[in-house]
Amino acid sequence: MSTDRRYEHFINGEFVPPSSGEYFESTNPATLDVLYRAARGNAADVERAVAAAAAAFENPAWRDLSQTKRGHLLRRLGDLVGEHADELARMESEDNGKLLREMRAQLAAMPEYYYYYAGLADKIQGDTIPGSSRAMLNYTLREPLGVVGAITPWNSPLTLTTSKLAPALATGNTIVIKPSEYTSATVLRLAALADEAGFPPGVINVVTGFGAEAGAALVENRRLAKISFTGSTATGARIASSTASRFIGSTLELGGKSPNIVFADADIANASMGVVAGIFAAAGQTCIAGSRVFAHKSVYDELLERVANRARSIVIGDPLLDATELGPLAFADQRDKVASYVDLGVSEGATVLTGGGRPNTGLNGYFFEPTVLTGVDNSMRVVREEIFGPVAAIMPFETEDEVLALANDTSYGLAAGIWTTNLSRAHRMASRLEAGTIWVNTYRTMSPQSPREGFKTSGVGVEHGIESIREYTRLKSVWINTDESPLADPFIMRS
Ligand code: NAI
Ligand code: MG
Repeated sequence: MSTDRRYEHFINGEFVPPSSGEYFESTNPATLDVLYRAARGNAADVERAVAAAAAAFENPAWRDLSQTKRGHLLRRLGDLVGEHADELARMESEDNGKLLREMRAQLAAMPEYYYYYAGLADKIQGDTIPGSSRAMLNYTLREPLGVVGAITPWNSPLTLTTSKLAPALATGNTIVIKPSEYTSATVLRLAALADEAGFPPGVINVVTGFGAEAGAALVENRRLAKISFTGSTATGARIASSTASRFIGSTLELGGKSPNIVFADADIANASMGVVAGIFAAAGQTCIAGSRVFAHKSVYDELLERVANRARSIVIGDPLLDATELGPLAFADQRDKVASYVDLGVSEGATVLTGGGRPNTGLNGYFFEPTVLTGVDNSMRVVREEIFGPVAAIMPFETEDEVLALANDTSYGLAAGIWTTNLSRAHRMASRLEAGTIWVNTYRTMSPQSPREGFKTSGVGVEHGIESIREYTRLKSVWINTDESPLADPFIMRS
């Protein structure tokens, strides 16, 4: 199928064509139909967007807007996202192959993120600081940074953009977003909704295009005050060295290889559902995927059987259908990467208990079977590296100390799941696991209120929660001398 649908950059409140005149295709990974062409952004387009954002940052219509009114705009944007939930859910499902059901659930939760930050907007404040001298009034101002660059991936474009956009705006910044080249459409639609909500032109800008072109140009733009990035650890490392050399901040939400641990005392039916949720939901294309499953040896066989049986019965196919449980991987390279990891696992000595190949769906798309690997251990690349697909590595363990050491023996530290009915063990493990999010008897639970941080190579900085406000503000300390008597000895430090 061909299409005439075109998307342009969104800069200064308008859709504008790319300066190169070039567009690139985005396909539906379930059908391989071309959905639309999006503007291929380059450094000139990025410069134009950053200039618009820099001007908007100084525009009194934004700079002098009361914090409460900033909150009103965010609340209005949340309303509009809710009103357009069906449209947005379908657009994103077609673009990245995520289940429409899952997208509807994400969209149902999304307004809450805008409402949460709308509520926070007028509670962002400094402190008055006591000092040793009563004459000195010292207070802090929490100020916006300026132009924030946001670079987002394809696996949950709207949700992951929202995690950056809402706090960046609540704190009074302006933003230039570079969405993934695989999923440009919904972020552009979101920007248009923000315009409709009444944000002044230039406050929110979107430049579409490739990572090495538009993405790299955004990272290198000298007027940026900060980069907020979600994506692979490799790209995150490149961004971090660039921002570090210019002494600007970055918030990085990167990869994972999260352990999902099933103890002997767990409710095994629930735990096996939790394992399935951890690795087969969203076809495993989530940073928080529970890709390393550890099961106590006394329940290992039962858990394996339950998970493998469920994996074999997963309904694979058209993500738009309500009955579908597993859609395609988002693009050809991603499917090939997942397939080659399974081959690698086998060459390392793993057994493919179920899955491992391309299912017969009657569709052309980049489908891959839900796969369970056994006979694996922490020395294998298939257990150490992020696959970002529906591939679970399941391993037995004997003692709590042993599984703790195994779970923590990873370069990543994004999330961990624990399945147990022993309260003391749950708290003990939660305290000793090296991961920013710990789930006990649940998996993939999140809310705008709850801060999340990636430990180790899983990231830097916090998203969500009140803590995320710090990521988008800087602190100024103001000293006022309220004593009018002449300044004493100028050669000593004052307090
Ligand atoms: P990526 O990290 O390269 O892409 C994410 C975003 O960064 C996209 O918008 C991309 O255009 C941009 N980007 C890429 N190179 C850039 C550069 N040099 N400068 C600035 N921006 C750049 O991830 P990609 O290529 O989409 O997927 C590769 C692998 O990364 C996946 O197979 C998966 O393993 C992992 N990944 C992990 C994610 C997570 O949330 N943990 C999300 C997406 C990908
Ligand atoms: Mg696409």
